[in-house]
Amino acid sequence: MAPNTIAVLTSNDIKHNNADDMMGFTQNNDLFYLSGIDQEESILVLYPDANKVENREILFVKETSEQIKIWDGDKLTKEQAAEISGVKRVEWVHDFEKLLQFMAFEADGFYLGHNEHVKRITYNQQTQQDRMILWIKEKYPLHNLHRVAKLTRALRPVKSVEEIDLMQHAADISVESFKRALRATKPGVKEYEIEAELIYHLTKSGATRHAFTPIVASGKNACALHYNDNDDVCQDGEMILMDFGVCYANYNSDTTRCFPVNGTFSKRQKEVYTSVLNCLKTGSKLLKPGVLSADYEKQMGKLVETELIKLGLLNAKDVAEQDPEKPLYKKYYMHGSAHHIGLDVHDVGLYYRPFEAGMVLTCEPGIYIPEEGIGCRLENDYLITEDGNRNLTEAMPIEIEDIELIMKNNK
Ligand code: GLY
Ligand code: MN
Ligand code: MN
Repeated sequence: MAPNTIAVLTSNDIKHNNADDMMGFTQNNDLFYLSGIDQEESILVLYPDANKVENREILFVKETSEQIKIWDGDKLTKEQAAEISGVKRVEWVHDFEKLLQFMAFEADGFYLGHNEHVKRITYNQQTQQDRMILWIKEKYPLHNLHRVAKLTRALRPVKSVEEIDLMQHAADISVESFKRALRATKPGVKEYEIEAELIYHLTKSGATRHAFTPIVASGKNACALHYNDNDDVCQDGEMILMDFGVCYANYNSDTTRCFPVNGTFSKRQKEVYTSVLNCLKTGSKLLKPGVLSADYEKQMGKLVETELIKLGLLNAKDVAEQDPEKPLYKKYYMHGSAHHIGLDVHDVGLYYRPFEAGMVLTCEPGIYIPEEGIGCRLENDYLITEDGNRNLTEAMPIEIEDIELIMKNNK
């Protein structure tokens, strides 16, 4: 942090639907990363240069009431919040403005949180962070403002041992969830019936929730990259693409597997699947220290291109003559090959920073052929180590024979 500045991190809102129905609560991940507090209406204030030692770290939490207790149950006590966060000074959130005033008087600026995701930010939703920015700007117009996200996006990509353990646990839960889904698959089953197997197992395993709305896409549905209607009938002869993740203790897994509705891959499905698996096996080796994301993406593009020629989808001569700015493989492979994963499924981190030990990234090549009703993506999560990587999702069956065997034996 710049000298003599105060960081103010806020919780997310509890999102509402209609009437008194709520979408539920997902904590702000920067606040969670720095405090471990998973409760709404919490504020973390960090002022490392404060003259008074007791002002250097303050956590504000919501004070409970008889009413809250009756309707929502327990909220954190000050002692519990201190124990979870390691922050010694815990205050009630209704005292935030008053206490901040004393610190703002001596400080030169603020660090404030903001969702800086490059894509798909919704500009028509004011978040708690947005309100805090507006409030601080109005109340302290002459203080300097800085971005918390710039600091957390430097810290969060390299995971601690504890974070890796939680991610491994999420991945382990996903393995059994996948096997359940395989066993439940047969011609005539609905996509949502397969989805139900996932949620059954992950809830029973103590996971918090799906990491994201799962994609269970049979046949041509698999060619819509973010399909999640999951309401179609799985037909004999089709292949299913299932992209799902487990959120355990706020940390996520993200995996994709493809499998035949009737338990046996057709010749063409096998060819396409083998191509994607080749790309995954070769491409994931590039997830190692020192590699740049852009080079990794380029290599993955080349691998997919080679496979598309083998599959007869691209012509080698056309590829040789293609405009390098508009490679032909993009017709069949139109998304990125990796993203950081952690507290966010698409976790924060700058993609021009070379890979480092402790980062966790997905590898997710795919080939989508709408005219053949086949969409295939395979996705694993890799922890980058000093000398390469470790596949956190290694235990999830991926070889054709293993998938067919599970489906055949139903166990
Ligand atoms: N499921 C979203 C992704 O694979 O990135
Ligand atoms: Mn992914
Ligand atoms: Mn995914």
